[in-house]
Amino acid sequence: MNLLLEFLWLIVIIIYSYVEALVKLFIPVKRKSVRGEIVLITGAAHGIGRLTAYEFAKHQSKLVLWDLNKKGLEETAEGCKQLGAEVHAFRVDCSVKEEIYSAAEKVKREIGDVSILVNNAGVVAAADFLSTLDKQIEKMFQVNILAHHWTVKAFLPAMVENNHGHIVTVASAGGHVTVPFLVSYCSSKFAAVGFHKSLSQELSVLGKDGIKTSCLCPVFINTGFIKHPSSRILPVLEPDRVAKKLMDGILCNQKMIFLPPSLTTALLLERILPERVLLAVDKIINVKFEAILGCERKEQ
Ligand SMILES: NC(=O)c1ccc[n+]([C@@H]2O[C@H](COP(=O)([O-])OP(=O)(O)OC[C@H]3O[C@@H](n4cnc5c(N)ncnc54)[C@H](O)[C@@H]3O)[C@@H](O)[C@H]2O)c1
Repeated sequence: MNLLLEFLWLIVIIIYSYVEALVKLFIPVKRKSVRGEIVLITGAAHGIGRLTAYEFAKHQSKLVLWDLNKKGLEETAEGCKQLGAEVHAFRVDCSVKEEIYSAAEKVKREIGDVSILVNNAGVVAAADFLSTLDKQIEKMFQVNILAHHWTVKAFLPAMVENNHGHIVTVASAGGHVTVPFLVSYCSSKFAAVGFHKSLSQELSVLGKDGIKTSCLCPVFINTGFIKHPSSRILPVLEPDRVAKKLMDGILCNQKMIFLPPSLTTALLLERILPERVLLAVDKIINVKFEAILGCERKEQ
């Protein structure tokens, strides 16, 4: 096709996409069924991971739960069983590649091929950059992004073979906009957003349209993950609401789930507003949380 025709085709695609988005505002999107799907959730012992497990349990999915915290994991598994779901819980340290690979082999052997993978486990160290220990920086990258590579490597082959599956990346608003005193955390979440976007693109180019992807990007959530978050403008989200929105996004095959949805507009503005205006906006928004500042740490 010559270049002019390709541009005309592009205009048709743009118009079609906007009309489709407009129509979808009024016609509810059909939700898919996840009944009987094998769903693996990392970081399932607490917070969003636990509540997402409950959401899948209500849909009668088969649950595989991973976390470091054995006691919390048992509580989540019990809750899922009470909702009538089959559950398998494993203590797995997602910061260790070898543990991920060996646990994944065990899951494949004993339970079957995972068709929905929710990479949710996350860690944070809130501190100014120079006060953040090397081992904390390494841990944030191991859990918040490298673990995603290892779990996807382990479970994607079966999804590719069946051209069926869903990979969910729990990232953060901090994967799109930066926050002081969370330098390494934001960097790891930018990486998670990049991982989601490039993997989605690659699956599409490979024609694996049966494998869906979703990325969750919320602002602060009231789980205790970040201590005492507050803002003059942004809400601190309730975990229940986040898990329900995540579940809904997965059922609708939504690619990017921003919470609150108005974040989309903020991101657009961020691209066009001058630096000085953005600094003034930051002051108005006034994000605050507990962080270690100015601590001269010797241990690395
Ligand atoms: N809470 C927030 O303000 C917020 C905002 C945006 C994004 N997020 C993201 O949401 C996800 C869930 O956070 P949450 O608020 O539910 O936190 P949480 O602390 O309640 O839950 C995190 C879970 O991950 C587990 N985990 C940590 N390290 C692990 C490891 N090495 N191996 C296995 N499991 C491990 C923890 O034991 C815990 O159960 C994280 O990825 C976080 O970055 C949280």
